[in-house]
Amino acid sequence: MTENYNYRIIIQNGGLKLEKFYVTTPIYYVNDKPHLGHAYTTTAADIIARFNKFLGRDVFFLTGTDEHGQKIQQAAEKRGMTPKEFVDALVPKFKELWEKLNISYDHFIRTTDPEHIKAVQYIFKKCYENGDIYLGEYEGWYCIPCETYYTEKDLLEGKLCPMCKREVVRVKEESYFFRLSKYQDKLLELYEKNPDFIAPDFRRNEIVNFVKQGLKDLSISRTSFTWGIPVPINEKHVIYVWFDALTNYLTAVGYPEDTERLNHYWPADLHLVGKDILRFHTVYWPAFLMSAGLEVPKRVFAHGWWTVNGEKMSKSKGNVVDPFELVEKFGVDQIRFFLFREVSFGLDGDFTYEKLVARINGELANDLGNLFNRTLSMLKKYRSSIVPEPKGVEDELDVKLKNKALATVSKLKELIPKAELTKALDEIWQFVSFVNFYIDRRAPWSLNKEGKEELDRVLYNMVEALRFITAFVYPYMPSSAEKMVEMLKLDKKAESLRISEFEEWGGIKPGIELEKGGILFPRVEYNPKTGEVSIAKTKKATK
Ligand code: MSP
Repeated sequence: MTENYNYRIIIQNGGLKLEKFYVTTPIYYVNDKPHLGHAYTTTAADIIARFNKFLGRDVFFLTGTDEHGQKIQQAAEKRGMTPKEFVDALVPKFKELWEKLNISYDHFIRTTDPEHIKAVQYIFKKCYENGDIYLGEYEGWYCIPCETYYTEKDLLEGKLCPMCKREVVRVKEESYFFRLSKYQDKLLELYEKNPDFIAPDFRRNEIVNFVKQGLKDLSISRTSFTWGIPVPINEKHVIYVWFDALTNYLTAVGYPEDTERLNHYWPADLHLVGKDILRFHTVYWPAFLMSAGLEVPKRVFAHGWWTVNGEKMSKSKGNVVDPFELVEKFGVDQIRFFLFREVSFGLDGDFTYEKLVARINGELANDLGNLFNRTLSMLKKYRSSIVPEPKGVEDELDVKLKNKALATVSKLKELIPKAELTKALDEIWQFVSFVNFYIDRRAPWSLNKEGKEELDRVLYNMVEALRFITAFVYPYMPSSAEKMVEMLKLDKKAESLRISEFEEWGGIKPGIELEKGGILFPRVEYNPKTGEVSIAKTKKATK
């Protein structure tokens, strides 16, 4: 960052320098409609983007589609379409899903965008001029569906792809190569000096071991198909999928021409990826960037994979979980919550309807929904729904509640930007449980008889705790947080809440009249035979 640049940002924000946060999802292949795996990474990025906005940062949240390659060319041909017609027809399905999931992306990039084509050709030339790209010949085992070359020893018995277990073919062609071997030591140094670069930790070790085994130069162009970005110095070749795809992260922030924008947002703060594509992001990508004279991203976080009832999701098994259907049946926030609560973000996990229903009923309906309902009902019963002045002397438990709320703010600030989404949600739930415990211990129903002042203070604390909870759950469950904001009559929308309003206890103004109660998360019943979901008969709000 140059001094000049700092000055410009200061001026732009009327005297306040906003810290930026640039977060990305992988760009998805558009050879089929989106599934649960796609929904997973994109929702994670959305949670992180929303939380960073809450921190007051200038967030840039990027998602998009990866549209080139042989697989797409073949799929289009099968349907008698051009590749462009084919991808144009599928892209809206992704955008529709992001709308259904409440994804607040700032830009949707497509690798067929003209500015992306320009950026890829530019970075190719840059690496070529730096002596890192040369023409050679590639011969190898190639899996067409996975668009991946394999060495003999990687293959399963019977010459099968280790990823999809389908037959691979022998391919020999002229190809441009990237001198990845030259970057081995530089990459190891990068991992050594930046322990945060690859997360979770156990994945870092996998990558370090892989690089230590020795890196081969990488084939980055093809002559065997045409659906790709032409190599700028040789139109017989198209650029192979990863060199094209990874560059999307640069295109979206103005590379190469808009240096002002590029200097502002680059390097990316966080690339979120699935474990299967971590190697591309932490070995190839930093090497390409180093070659082009650009900074490497600050962090790459790999999440695990979802199975369904213990099995890998696959079209042939017919067990692919459709995120549209999930949202339709259970509600968007219920799904967003479940994905990060059920399975520790970073590890593999298993999806079942039973687990989903148990989380919705046990944690959303009971722990959280009922907490709002019981608090507002007591406020109605004892104080006609008017927030009282917190009177009397605070005791140990009151102080504990307040301190816990403030400590949770600090913990979330530390965890969420690092993509520790399940740990952060654990913290939030510990607070929710503590507020329920506080209510049970204080027993407002008994204070009503003897401790009028104390009851004022307890009710005030209960409502103030709900204000904190609204901010805590907002990134995970933005539409429920909007409902909470209305129930608590906060003077702004949940998306406009900022951390500065949560640095002290006592933001709720005494004297305002709140809603009388209400159901945030209805209990659900699921019929595994028919797949039907119905709203369970609501239990009466308990104390
Ligand atoms: N186009 C490349 C990414 C290029 S990024 C520069 C790609 N696309 S993909 O559509 O095949 O996969 C996108 C993401 O979906 C990956 O991060 C992958 O891990 C994730 N998932 C695919 N199936 C998944 C599950 N079953 N569970 C969780 N995530 C999964 O790779």
